[in-house]
Amino acid sequence: MTAKSSAGNTIPRHVAIIMDGNGRWAKKRMWNRLRGHREGAESVDVVTEAARTAGVEYLTLYAFSTENWSRPADEVNGLWALLEEFLEKKREKLVRNRIRLHFIGHLEHLPAGVRKKALEVKRATEEHGWDMTLTLALSYGARDEITCAAREIARMVERGEITANDISESAISAHLFTAGIPDPDLVIRTSGELRVSNFLLWQSAYAEYYFTETLWPDFREKEFLDALRAYAGRHRRFGRTGDQVKE
Ligand code: IPE
Ligand code: IPE
Ligand code: MG
Repeated sequence: MTAKSSAGNTIPRHVAIIMDGNGRWAKKRMWNRLRGHREGAESVDVVTEAARTAGVEYLTLYAFSTENWSRPADEVNGLWALLEEFLEKKREKLVRNRIRLHFIGHLEHLPAGVRKKALEVKRATEEHGWDMTLTLALSYGARDEITCAAREIARMVERGEITANDISESAISAHLFTAGIPDPDLVIRTSGELRVSNFLLWQSAYAEYYFTETLWPDFREKEFLDALRAYAGRHRRFGRTGDQVKE
């Protein structure tokens, strides 16, 4: 998997995943949606391990969108309880496997207990070195992220710290939640939906997309490696001609 493919891509440095289909996975079995989320948490564990083993440096998982707040309160509360349990359960493993935990989105909107646990586990994983950064997008929306960045930059202009001409693409990137994280090379969406649902809109300008019918709870190591293989066969051109890229 580490050899360069004929298309020239190797392992993507940053993989971002829209984890979708937990509800449908549960519904097929006539189970409560939360059982689907629970099985989805197992996929998070498996895929994180597979990504680290493959040599991915950044794995970003879309776990809860700004729009997901409009789901029934039972489901939303169940998701937070599950996240808290997951963080506590995986804390040791993350540290042992040299995985740094990171968050993007409005952590301050989460219930206090979950937020506290999230920051506690994040701190624990930052105490030693790491080979991979696992970023969970929580209460995250890309439009909201860009709006917040615009507001912050406008305040800097108001204070006279910069002028309008100082606003560059890199200045905007530096004010996003993802500041310091390279743009995703590969964005995966499970469950057959062909949309991006407000995920990393700015950062994915040149990402390769991979869509699969597989529901997130069924997306495990094999499915992840299939996505990496598909990526290895893509020709990324970044606006240049195919001939230029071959040179
Ligand atoms: C993705 O699965 C998890 C979250 C959005 C929290 P869904 O809950 O959206 O599952 P479906 O799309 O209803 O099957
Ligand atoms: C996208 O899934 C958000 C997450 C995976 C967290 P949704 O299930 O919320 O997306 P839509 O509503 O189908 O677009
Ligand atoms: Mg969904």
